[in-house]
Amino acid sequence: MHDRKRTPALTAMALALCALAAGNVLGEQPYRERYPDAKIDPAKGVEGDVGFSDTIQYWRTEADLERNAGLADKPAEQWKLNWKHMDLDRIDLHPGHLAVDEGAALVKKLAARDPAFLTCLGEGSAEIKGKAAAYPKFDVALGRILTVEGRIEQCAKSVLGEDLPQGKPPNTKISVYFKSLSAGVPTKVDIGNTKVMEAYRRGEQSFYVRTGQLNMACASCHVPGSIMGHKLRGETPTTPFGDTAHYPTYRTPVGALESLQERFARCHNQMRTQPLKPGDPAYTDLEVFMTVLTNGYPISVPSAR
Ligand code: HEC
Repeated sequence: MHDRKRTPALTAMALALCALAAGNVLGEQPYRERYPDAKIDPAKGVEGDVGFSDTIQYWRTEADLERNAGLADKPAEQWKLNWKHMDLDRIDLHPGHLAVDEGAALVKKLAARDPAFLTCLGEGSAEIKGKAAAYPKFDVALGRILTVEGRIEQCAKSVLGEDLPQGKPPNTKISVYFKSLSAGVPTKVDIGNTKVMEAYRRGEQSFYVRTGQLNMACASCHVPGSIMGHKLRGETPTTPFGDTAHYPTYRTPVGALESLQERFARCHNQMRTQPLKPGDPAYTDLEVFMTVLTNGYPISVPSAR
């Protein structure tokens, strides 16, 4: 008697446990280890590097860069300049400058087909100067976060019905042009926006989570006490602060433009982690996280690396 009564309850319990287990496998992210938290304060923006890598003293201002120019010739210390000595016109004319002209020509061509393309980029105005510095931002009408490249893709599609996918040369060239019109303007991602901060937290999570065959996190190479500052197969990983200011950049070694999210993919490849496509929501979150770490630092496009 007793047993028969208990059986349905036990069955229900077993079913519930099965559902829980299935939920863990199907519904949630698999368990992953997290690299120790570097305790970055988003409100500090680029100044968060103080007490972090402490290299900002070498690259904060033009005067700092000039005073410390000698570091560029010291292989063991070069990384402390965060490669900022290669921004803008500090090195000879490079193809990044060419990309500005090509991007400008592309915008002109597309706006000739429909002037709404330009007013879409300028969010209601044909003036796009200075506007790139506020990206990534939450677009209320679209209900999602847009990066500069995301805006370009969205405007081309919605106004012209044209595909300008992120991470491909036409999109990246327009981005170089758009961002060059904000050169010198401090990066100003709106951390007062809840949606932006939700994306920041998700991006922060992907920065610390270990993935791939090598079980590495971005933090394994880009925070103090990690590989940061140490040579790894010919390259020395630097601080994540200030990085987004010079993207998209022209990569001299391969002779091609590279968007920030293409750089994420390259780092993912180095970590033996399946890279994502530029424009993937996870990369957009990571871009929000990294751009907040550049808040206050002037945009410096075009640049070369
Ligand atoms: C195996 C070490 C390693 C890991 C892990 C790694 N990176 Fe990198 N990363 C590098 C190296 C080396 C460079 C080139 C030197 C530099 O600029 O820091 C670099 C450069 C970058 C740059 C460009 C910096 C600049 O000034 O141009 C960004 C952005 C970046 N990494 C982001 C990431 C993100 C996001 C992750 C995680 C998805 C990640 N990295 C994981 C090694 C790594």
